Amino acid sequence: MGDRYVRVVETAALAEGGMTAVEIEGREIVICRADGRHYAIDRRCGHMNAPLERGTLSGTILTCAMHCAQFDITTGEALAGPVPHDWGTEPPPPKVGQHLGVIGALMEEIRTESIGVYGTKVEDGAVWVALK
Ligand code: FES
Repeated sequence: MGDRYVRVVETAALAEGGMTAVEIEGREIVICRADGRHYAIDRRCGHMNAPLERGTLSGTILTCAMHCAQFDITTGEALAGPVPHDWGTEPPPPKVGQHLGVIGALMEEIRTESIGVYGTKVEDGAVWVALK
């Protein structure tokens, strides 16, 4: 049995470089428009689940807004993990520094996974997403 396409958004609703989140049959998906095409990806970041439509799209590279992990929206491949925050040179208050140390150690143990992608087509002025 082949993919089943579901109509999700009007093509006019997405400008080049735009992203919008949709929910289809319980799945959270982001529709992206890049290089004149439409792509559909899982909404949740492969690092810590942030909503990816809040990130930025440069060509077909999406950067998560939370810790700047990057994904190729054509394949879902995780291209880069999170970027450590620059806290500057001034030492934080001791309890804050202790907390940041614990968080930093945990962050080093968290993998950034690739995300799922879906087939798309444009028909009748709308973007359709292929569901399996
Ligand atoms: S949640 Fe996306 S980079 Fe951390």
